[in-house]
Amino acid sequence: MTLIGPSLMCADMGILKETVIRLDQAGVDFFHLDIMDGNFVPNFTMGPDLIKSIRPYTNKPFDVHLMVKNPENHLDTFIESGANMISVHVEATDHLQKTLKTIRDKGLKAGVALNPSTPLQELVYVLDTIDYVTVMTVNPGFAGQKFIPLMYQKISDLKHLLNKAEYEIDIQVDGNIGYETIPDVLKNGANMLVCGTSSLFKPDVTFEEAVNQLKDFTE
Ligand code: DX5
Ligand code: ZN
Repeated sequence: MTLIGPSLMCADMGILKETVIRLDQAGVDFFHLDIMDGNFVPNFTMGPDLIKSIRPYTNKPFDVHLMVKNPENHLDTFIESGANMISVHVEATDHLQKTLKTIRDKGLKAGVALNPSTPLQELVYVLDTIDYVTVMTVNPGFAGQKFIPLMYQKISDLKHLLNKAEYEIDIQVDGNIGYETIPDVLKNGANMLVCGTSSLFKPDVTFEEAVNQLKDFTE
């Protein structure tokens, strides 16, 4: 089953509470919350207080994508804010296995996010400690970028690696996931779509229409 997750960094922060309620009711499967520190990536987005403020309005999982240096120093902050899943960048920590194990020990799902050029080999010795892999299909930091074509091959290679290692691990794709890219990311093995300006936050369709179109398109 393909899971659909709005990327809330693309939402209008002035009506975020209503947006979360409407997207929940429209039937999204999770909410993707991009956290940026202006250091690991050249941008800033939301923080733990904003996550806390929308937590009461949905029971759907909060998937917190930490695009921050040394994410191990910030896990409790985002757990307390209401995260259910946390992905950390392999490029941002010297202690990946320990960080992932801490996330799991605290009862959350643990994910590893990979920048476009980062090889899959980085995953091999933590496969027993992760629940999902986030394949960045754009360079992290900003919405509205173009999908990097070689990421199709990376998704396929990842699917083969997980099948061979016999681990049930979700493959999440993040960046320019829209109607031109969805068919091939699904064909190559992705099953969690982070949906932003390319498919969900579009001026000409309502959230309800956009979610229904995505569900029909990914069935
Ligand atoms: C990049 C961000 C974006 C965002 C999705 O760091 O993670 O990919 O979620 O936005 P679009 O769909 O515009 O790429
Ligand atoms: Zn993200």
